Amino acid sequence: MTAADTFETILEMRARAVEDLLGSLLDERILPGEIARPARLLQAMRHGVLNGGKRLRPFLVVESAGLFGADQDAALRVAAALECVHCYSLIHDDLPAMDDDDLRRGQPTVHKAYDEATAILAGDSLLTLAFDILADEATAIAADRRAALVLALARAAGAGGMAGGQALDLDAERTQPDEAGIITLQAMKTGALIRFACEAGAIVAGAPAADRERLAEFGSAIGLAFQLADDLLDLTSDTTTLGKTAGKDVAAGKATLVQLHGPDWTRRQLDGLVLQARELLKPYGAAASTLKLAANFVATRRK
Ligand code: IPE
Ligand code: IPE
Ligand code: MG
Ligand code: MG
Ligand code: MG
Repeated sequence: MTAADTFETILEMRARAVEDLLGSLLDERILPGEIARPARLLQAMRHGVLNGGKRLRPFLVVESAGLFGADQDAALRVAAALECVHCYSLIHDDLPAMDDDDLRRGQPTVHKAYDEATAILAGDSLLTLAFDILADEATAIAADRRAALVLALARAAGAGGMAGGQALDLDAERTQPDEAGIITLQAMKTGALIRFACEAGAIVAGAPAADRERLAEFGSAIGLAFQLADDLLDLTSDTTTLGKTAGKDVAAGKATLVQLHGPDWTRRQLDGLVLQARELLKPYGAAASTLKLAANFVATRRK
């Protein structure tokens, strides 16, 4: 088995664990304070979450928490919360008003399987569910750390993070920004949640501020690499492999670094980001070997 095979086996194992938890968090039981849970909305939420996906962000939360010896069950709940935000971002990203995509993870997008209003509400409900999970005492982490997680995820997801980056991404279809502008929008729309994923493990564990910052920087480096690879795959791969429509970025006039500098430049850039990311983990030695493999995976993945 190569190191890459080993990595994918661990990724798969962690994906199953987070999916089991997400399945139970998204059941139709009415919670204290609720009057009803509309069945169709719940089904749409489940469609948007329990539909495959690499589960890379949950993986990063659990692995970074493990680096500092944090409780794995608590880390898994934080991982599930983050995946809810990610899936919400995908549901909204696919809406006709945004990227207008029909296919996601090899299945019809939520607005295709249901309708646009339900897709908007499923996204809204997943975003709030994420903060419900983080604030819940069932997430067995000291209250001050839960508050820190809520704050960090709010900032990563909001106008200064993912949602803000999505706004810049849509503007960029008209304004065609330069390299620095594209890096900013990608650091926000994609980097912020991946940065949070890596930082969250350190928060769960109550690691020193310097470690938290180091993990966050690692997350930023692989976050940029992740979107570069996504843009490269949009150009070079096919719809069946990706489980989402290939070739959309050129068709929509998206501002990407691949479109600005070409695939070869992008591959070199990816190599540099992986090296930079791995270097940041040097102080942790062999304990960080799986996270280092994650950096390679982000840049070399096929979907
Ligand atoms: C797709 O994310 C959206 C981007 C930020 C590029 P992923 O490639 O992680 O999507 P899933 O979760 O595996 O489907
Ligand atoms: C999406 O970027 C980033 C999000 C915040 C969802 P893309 O629009 O490139 O993601 P895909 O290609 O649809 O997965
Ligand atoms: Mg988009
Ligand atoms: Mg899209
Ligand atoms: Mg894309």
